Amino acid sequence: MLKISVLVSGGGTNLQALIDAQNNKILKSGKIVQVISSRPDAYAVERAKKFEIPVDVADFKELGEKFEEKILELLKKFNPEIIVLAGFMHILSKNFIENCKAKIINIHPSLIPSFCGKGFYGLKVHEAVLKSGVKITGATVHLVNEIPDGGEILAQKPVPVFPDDTPEKLQRRVMENAEWIILPRAVEAVCKEIEPKIFPYPIKYPGRGIVTGKTPSGKIMLAYFIMGRSSSSKARVFERSRDNLIIKLTKQDKNFDPSLILYAPLKILGENIIVTNGDQTDTIYDFMKDGKTFEEALRTREYEPDPPHYTPRISAIINKSGYKQSILKKAGKFFFEYEFENGTGHLIHTYNNDVTPDKNLPSFTGEPREIKIFDEDAETFANSLWEELGEDYRVALYVRFYEPDFSSYTDKLFNTNTI
Ligand code: GAR
Repeated sequence: MLKISVLVSGGGTNLQALIDAQNNKILKSGKIVQVISSRPDAYAVERAKKFEIPVDVADFKELGEKFEEKILELLKKFNPEIIVLAGFMHILSKNFIENCKAKIINIHPSLIPSFCGKGFYGLKVHEAVLKSGVKITGATVHLVNEIPDGGEILAQKPVPVFPDDTPEKLQRRVMENAEWIILPRAVEAVCKEIEPKIFPYPIKYPGRGIVTGKTPSGKIMLAYFIMGRSSSSKARVFERSRDNLIIKLTKQDKNFDPSLILYAPLKILGENIIVTNGDQTDTIYDFMKDGKTFEEALRTREYEPDPPHYTPRISAIINKSGYKQSILKKAGKFFFEYEFENGTGHLIHTYNNDVTPDKNLPSFTGEPREIKIFDEDAETFANSLWEELGEDYRVALYVRFYEPDFSSYTDKLFNTNTI
């Protein structure tokens, strides 16, 4: 989920369109985290407050030459990846654009390259349109570069001009029929395109999955998710049990082997965290408690007895010195050992990401996938992974981020179902 800051100067109807789109999930790959107004009395400020979005004022009149500096300072509070100029009546300098790492998106109330550039803003655009006698105008969403209204065009929508139009009437029609529609969609498209993905490929049906690794700053992280297609597999929830994790059923169903469904996916043994997709968690726990190894424990186990899939058993162990992952499948027993590298993790899942109806599910092939860990907190990582897992099959997700010395952790749990 990317962070979006919205810069405004006036009524904020485009800000409202973005807020509405967020509420309606049209805008879902980014979240408005901040509004900055160039005028203290702009109605856009009230709109932001109403929706409890943090809002700051960088007063253009008062700040003069320090205006852009102030905006850059306010942006640092949230470090957004996206800035949207939504009815923002100022041209940003080349220096500002170069100093700002975020992608900047602007909505302009005409069909660029007509009626745009310096001096064309707000009602002035519509006055010029009426004076020229053109019969079609519209709106444009574009990326911002050093040329005013000159960046790459992302979206445009035409709107008719009528003989009895006033600038106000035309402005309203352009807003309603073009701006409020194309701005949120274009912002979503940009967010979706640049949002970093955790999975190295689009998710179909990976089944159950484990991630272990380190964050860019060196926090130790792990994640475990379950997806389900059958009703028994779907009818489960994760529940915290002190520092461990357990699985519970949402409904009683006698037609399955509960040992394959109900198990402890995460158990702590001293400074070792064990994560698996089955009751091999206990095997590893018991062996290691007796001074034996992760590998020794798993060599006594094999894939699940669930023909025709023969679901692989996936397991991981993570401690201060690194992490190991394993997969026990029909084709053999495999072990992988990794040293920590900041910002890097490994992902292993049970099935080969396939979901052909009524066919047996092919086992995961190859090595655990090396993935980038972008986030520093469990919640942000969990939100992104939950979103990526998709609504059709995701059942539960647990994410835990430890401080580098293992002194404490934060976590996040998602369940599709409730008990
Ligand atoms: C909108 O028509 C917007 O496109 C325009 O100001 C109006 C007010 O928007 N922006 C520009 O002219 C920027 N050059 P709002 O209701 O969202 O405040």
